[in-house]
Amino acid sequence: MNYHRFDSIIVGAGGAGLMAALESSKSVGTAVVSKLYPTRSHTGAAQGGIAAALSNLEEDSWENHAYDTIKGGDFLVDQTAAEILCREAIDAIYDLEHMGLPFDRTADGRISQRRFGGHTKPSPDGSGKRVPVMRACHAADRTGHMILQTLYQQCIKQGVTFFDEFHMLDLIMEDGECHGIVAIEIATGELHTFHAKSVLLSTGGFGRIFKVSSNAYALTGDGPAIAWRHGVPLEDMEFFQFHPTGIYRLGILLSEACRGDGGIMFNGKGERFMETYAPNMKDLASRDVCSRAIYQEVRAGRGVGGKDYVYLDIRAETINKYGTSPTGGTVDSHWVEHRLPDIIDFARTYLGVDPIKEPMPIQPTAHYAMGGVPTNIDTEVIRDPSGTVVPGLYSAGESACVSVHGANRLGTNSLVDLVVFGKRAGRAMAEHARQTKFSTKPIDPEAPTKQLIEGVLARPRTEPWVKIRDEMQRTMMDNCGVYRTGETLTTAKNDIAQLQSRYKSTGVQDKGSVFNTGLLEVLELGCLLDLAEATVASALARKESRGAHSREDFPDRDDTNFFGHTLVYRVGEGETSIAYKDVDVITLEKDGQVTTKYPLEIRKY
Ligand code: FUM
Repeated sequence: MNYHRFDSIIVGAGGAGLMAALESSKSVGTAVVSKLYPTRSHTGAAQGGIAAALSNLEEDSWENHAYDTIKGGDFLVDQTAAEILCREAIDAIYDLEHMGLPFDRTADGRISQRRFGGHTKPSPDGSGKRVPVMRACHAADRTGHMILQTLYQQCIKQGVTFFDEFHMLDLIMEDGECHGIVAIEIATGELHTFHAKSVLLSTGGFGRIFKVSSNAYALTGDGPAIAWRHGVPLEDMEFFQFHPTGIYRLGILLSEACRGDGGIMFNGKGERFMETYAPNMKDLASRDVCSRAIYQEVRAGRGVGGKDYVYLDIRAETINKYGTSPTGGTVDSHWVEHRLPDIIDFARTYLGVDPIKEPMPIQPTAHYAMGGVPTNIDTEVIRDPSGTVVPGLYSAGESACVSVHGANRLGTNSLVDLVVFGKRAGRAMAEHARQTKFSTKPIDPEAPTKQLIEGVLARPRTEPWVKIRDEMQRTMMDNCGVYRTGETLTTAKNDIAQLQSRYKSTGVQDKGSVFNTGLLEVLELGCLLDLAEATVASALARKESRGAHSREDFPDRDDTNFFGHTLVYRVGEGETSIAYKDVDVITLEKDGQVTTKYPLEIRKY
């Protein structure tokens, strides 16, 4: 047995994992286990910015940011967590700057900021309206890439131990506590036991359950799926964000920064359709609102050429014609190229379209899981509506649901979530490790994993597993996408159940142990199928529309019956149960009167 022992084990080397590693390794032995080489983690694909109310270009406050975050999440956001996010965001940005992150600068040398959807401040004209605010700190349209490189360099400098291309296959759980993980070394096929006092799941999202997605192939939700199999519930899985501007058919992200910097979406008739759906914020409404608008335009036959896409236009002449440049002045194509170099490159490479000269065909793309492994504000995993902690187990980043995003995340709030809650995770894990002794050496923790692998290798390849994956992605996209109904969700539920059963009997061609990527992809598919099942079960149970969950058979938000977080449990093969957890609401008391700090309101942009 390959045996390792660390106080803290961090699974996943994206922004949350690396931030946690930096913090934890200040005081206890810490290792990062990642199935990818760390700088290939998906944080590197985040483009437009990281939110913090620095007030560098205009007056702003963390309170504005918190209000926008709670409203953006259609009031399903846990409010204490949101306030932590927005308050701690400011120091988090300066921490990153001091680590060497090359942010873009204003003329006088401060960190540059740009607009993003749903980020606002009260209008200076006192009308009570809210207007877009420049809050997203950025490094061109490569902000996530810069964060990842910066954090990785710091981890190396600080001596964090890395196990690169080690794929976690199981958690070591005893009596409801976590004592480590089992991982496979991809190069050799050998199993490794990592014994730990604190384990962090920071494995990222699972957008690969959908056919059109901005997510990399590696985003298969291993952390949430494995935790779910161990009886941990998953929270708010029905809320999956579709980013409005994915490259048509491919789903590759074209940053919201395009619209933050003045770009506009047009339908096939050349109309700026967002004026109808969000008269105030228009193209800078929240993502759920914009994605639904695109679907509505396409359904009404106003897609380009009657097809299922619309245009995103970032040409300087368009920005100038509509007066949408962030400065209010005129811009030229050099300015656009300077602000959005990767976007321009992606469009030229993948679409054969030059965005300096022509608009880009776009459609909504599955982008971000608001749901995931439930945690408290210290990133400890919880297992029931009353918040009972699973000792030794933590989660942060997209794999977690600390519920700062509620039913719909605002753009640029994911990067700040990673750094703020990644840091809190590292601190909490180290604290736990300092106060706890290692459990006795786990007895044969690899046995279930060996059985799982031997099972897959022994099975004949009755059908290509990619066929099962394709069918899953198709049914999820068609039946559990931007719009759903009880009927479509029931179709998805039945399809997933049937795919689960076919999955059990299909094997792989390669029976070897060295770089057996086929085997790993089959195991990843098992995770995706489980998460698709949890997503559909949660979506079926929530009979209302809120944020990214749009039930056409229940078009209104229902605060009387559904103002709560979904917890979905696996209770048997193909069987789930649902419970609801209260939303954390901040109350204020004045003169014996109790009010809420962020009163529920109908969400309009
Ligand atoms: O549009 C973007 O640049 C993506 C940012 C995000 O998802 O936060």
